[in-house]
Amino acid sequence: MRDVLIAPSVLSADFARLGEEVRAIDTAGCDWVHVDVMDGHFVPNITIGPMVVQAIRPHTKKVLDVHLMIAPADPYIEAFAKAGSDIITVHAEAGPHLDRSLQLIRALGKKAGVSLTPHTPESVIAYVLERLDLILVMTVNPGFGGQAFIPGMTEKIARIRSMIGARPIHLEVDGGVTVETAGACARAGADVLVAGSATFKGGKYKENMDAIRAAAAKA
Ligand code: DX5
Ligand code: ZN
Repeated sequence: MRDVLIAPSVLSADFARLGEEVRAIDTAGCDWVHVDVMDGHFVPNITIGPMVVQAIRPHTKKVLDVHLMIAPADPYIEAFAKAGSDIITVHAEAGPHLDRSLQLIRALGKKAGVSLTPHTPESVIAYVLERLDLILVMTVNPGFGGQAFIPGMTEKIARIRSMIGARPIHLEVDGGVTVETAGACARAGADVLVAGSATFKGGKYKENMDAIRAAAAKA
């Protein structure tokens, strides 16, 4: 079983104290920091933009894993790269030219990710695998934290794991990851787990992340 990385989503943080919250999850042992960018168009919610990514960048040296739930994404990729993102993930559904978006991200010196909403079949990424550093499987409909994991998604995670084969591509699961669902994700082949509400609940960030990690390791 591979080691699973934990990427808390700052969507569940106290936005009024965002820098402090990022330092707190860093100290509590997160692997990456997951940043959910929403535009009120691709998804029914509005969150943060490149200026906020730039503002949190000095608060951690860990990987800033920036999940763009915006359409179009291409006109904003450079701004998110300059803001200090390490990984930039676009949605396959967000634009007509996924191959071009992925090339743009790598040309800016960043790791390139693609995300699939729950209904999108994994076949849409069959011809861009060589351009990918990360595949993010949405296990809820994007837009909000705290939703329930869609059970049928474990089969999709497993299928994508076999598509990846020996390629050095991370397989990240996002949405409804908890102590209860982390095991199934890890068993299906996920190596990065995003956890928003499950990390931030009750203010015990380290205990919460340790519990998710342990549930994944036991799988
Ligand atoms: C949903 C976001 C997720 C979300 C995860 O649109 O992409 O990252 O914040 O939140 P939880 O872990 O609470 O489901
Ligand atoms: Zn996300």
